Amino acid sequence: MYVKYNFEYEQRIRAGFIGCGGHSYRNIYPTFQYAPIELVAVCDFDKKRAETYKSMFGAKSAYDDHIEMLDKESLDAVFVVTNYENNIPRYPKLAIDIMNAGCHVWIEKPPASSVKEVQDMIDVSEKTGKFVMVGFKKVFFTAISKAKEIISSKEFGNPASIYVRYPQSIPDFRDRENPAKMHGFLDHIGHPASILHYLMGKTKSVYFQREAFNGGTIAVLTFLNGAIGCLHLCAGQSGTSPLERVEVIGSGCNLVVENGVKLTYYRRGERGPGGYGRSSNYIGKDESAPIYWEPEFSLGQLYNKGIFMLGYAPEIIYFSECVLANRPPEKCNLETALEVTKLYEAYKNPDGTEIKIN
Ligand SMILES: NC(=O)c1ccc[n+]([C@@H]2O[C@H](COP(=O)([O-])OP(=O)(O)OC[C@H]3O[C@@H](n4cnc5c(N)ncnc54)[C@H](O)[C@@H]3O)[C@@H](O)[C@H]2O)c1
Repeated sequence: MYVKYNFEYEQRIRAGFIGCGGHSYRNIYPTFQYAPIELVAVCDFDKKRAETYKSMFGAKSAYDDHIEMLDKESLDAVFVVTNYENNIPRYPKLAIDIMNAGCHVWIEKPPASSVKEVQDMIDVSEKTGKFVMVGFKKVFFTAISKAKEIISSKEFGNPASIYVRYPQSIPDFRDRENPAKMHGFLDHIGHPASILHYLMGKTKSVYFQREAFNGGTIAVLTFLNGAIGCLHLCAGQSGTSPLERVEVIGSGCNLVVENGVKLTYYRRGERGPGGYGRSSNYIGKDESAPIYWEPEFSLGQLYNKGIFMLGYAPEIIYFSECVLANRPPEKCNLETALEVTKLYEAYKNPDGTEIKIN
């Protein structure tokens, strides 16, 4: 897509920002260069940090109390990128304050630590007419967006099965109600779970087994649409390894996204002629040859910047455009948060039991 620079937009949303920490500095504030956003106010418990971010990212005011910011400023939307309080995400409480103050909200992941908290946000969203979008960036990865387009095509057929690999451990069953021990799992499960939800829809049931060495798991999922999936949380892999692999199988074709960026589409087709035991050539016809994409890293382009490839700028542009149009987001909304959090809660069950999700 053609990307406008911030100052080229005729209309911009008036935005506040809660959280002046590490992730927002690296990956979220910088995306505002490419989105229709006028950053009006920033807020952090640490006022000095808020003042620094105010100057650095061109806001007009800095606060150390979000209620004061919401009272004093006239805002269309508020971005929230905060840390945990006693291992529980702060997003539900902040999002509810913001919606009640009349603004739309963008929150980072994980949106909540329980289905009940997501339901509370849904209730306030319905009451106030304000919406919440969650930063499930992987839905906006260039390669995952293209994968969605391919698997939605007639040519691909029904996406019948999916494999997603992501390195993450889960504690032993007896520790799964302990927020401190579940912190890492809660922090990361939204990454693979949002890909599963985006590509395959709602999960019907899940069954998993855990290995005793690193806490890795392999889960079998069924989806409401009749498809099946495997979520391999491959704890224990090397820190030098790429993290992810996604594969979707259709009808006579499949695709693979390797390392989040390399996408191969194996179109419907045959290997070279000759038949089994007689073919000397593995290369088939050009018109059915696999299609392969990876970014080039020579040009000073936007597509080879991490904030675009990893979905950060696209998700913020999408949210800002939803706010400008007063149109609730279809992607990464509270329904997505609900499905991701249902899967999180399912993993609190004992290994080896089939858990019904929907
Ligand atoms: N999507 C991704 O790729 C990705 C990557 C890293 C982190 N994250 C998420 O981003 C969030 C922040 O992570 P981080 O590493 O930047 O944390 P951090 O601790 O560096 O920053 C959080 C900041 O929020 C401030 N804060 C917390 N509650 C506040 C409140 N109520 N009012 C004002 N300020 C408040 C803290 O003072 C702190 O400065 C987490 O939810 C994390 O899971 C996402």
